[in-house]
Amino acid sequence: MPDLSKITTIEDLRVIAQRRVPRMFYDYADSGSWTEGTYRANESDFQKIKFRQRVAVNMEGRSTRSTMVGQEVSMPVAIAPTGLTGMQHADGEILGARAAKAFGIPFTLSTMSICSLEDIAENTDRHPFWFQLYVMRDREFIERLIERAKAANVSALQLTLDLQILGQRHKDIKNGLTAPPKMTLANMIDLATKPQWCLGMLGTKRRTFGNIAGHARGVKDLSSLSSWTAEQFDPTLSWADVEWIKKLWGGKLILKGIMDVEDARLAAASGADALIVSNHGGRQLDGAPSSIEALPAIAEAVGNEIEVWMDGGIRSGQDVLKARALGARGTLIGRSFLYGLGAFGQAGVERALQIIQRELDLSMAFCGRTQIDQVESSILLPGTF
Ligand code: GLV
Repeated sequence: MPDLSKITTIEDLRVIAQRRVPRMFYDYADSGSWTEGTYRANESDFQKIKFRQRVAVNMEGRSTRSTMVGQEVSMPVAIAPTGLTGMQHADGEILGARAAKAFGIPFTLSTMSICSLEDIAENTDRHPFWFQLYVMRDREFIERLIERAKAANVSALQLTLDLQILGQRHKDIKNGLTAPPKMTLANMIDLATKPQWCLGMLGTKRRTFGNIAGHARGVKDLSSLSSWTAEQFDPTLSWADVEWIKKLWGGKLILKGIMDVEDARLAAASGADALIVSNHGGRQLDGAPSSIEALPAIAEAVGNEIEVWMDGGIRSGQDVLKARALGARGTLIGRSFLYGLGAFGQAGVERALQIIQRELDLSMAFCGRTQIDQVESSILLPGTF
């Protein structure tokens, strides 16, 4: 076990991940679309929001425990679905799921994961986890995927609504992103400086899209994410499809990628259990507001009808606290999770979760609150949000 006692921030993990993970995968995770304006705003807009510091308040007996769609969580943070996670670290999704299980928070597996639904179930003693679904043109494949999710003990389905088409991320084109990486000279030179990553990859058989390989028909070049999303993802996705999936799945349903009050009303009317205010980590519509900026109006409009969550830009427990104060019952972390994973595997993910929980707990106390479930916007300084 590495000694992680000096790793005290998510930024510490990011710096180490950048050193250890091959460039094309680090860049894939750590980039936004086009000018990356929305990607940057997701983080920087959190900084504009200020807390009201309170003193001489009894701070004993604190708890960050809460629930997300009825499920008990040790803090209102779930691991977000992230594509190609098993390329940040060998068997990355299995390690992430184990860390989340140990910590008492939900793990979400992406459709575009390297480890499959079955891999997660087999390697976590069938502990329940969440699955994120993209709607593809091949509806039979979707039906089979949902059946596989049920068989793998998935306890909630996150249906992503904001990726019918893929936003352009320049770095992925420049790096020639594929999974597994092609053995070009540039990649070999880069991999030569990432020996731990290479060793891990040599020790696993999971090196391409585990949920798709051998299951989807007519996918010509599976290794290239951009070409197969263009071929396979359904650009005609509609609210009628949401209803179809809701019936097919029959369990807890979470709609991901809502940025507009009108869409939030439609999401609430669909009968889903939760919606996620999300701009896909700034990877889709560059120029959209940050998630934290979009959150308050959506929470205000539909927060009484459906659980409102958010993701995008969370790099600390203070960010989780601000999101909670602005109406997000739950939050999700993508990059904060991936930095921990890329830096130190499962131990790094556990470290990231510890960092965030400690920051959340102490910041809540400085604001004069002891229970996360009692936090609302009065902990924030008026005029800063
Ligand atoms: C896919 O989910 C991506 O954002 O690359």
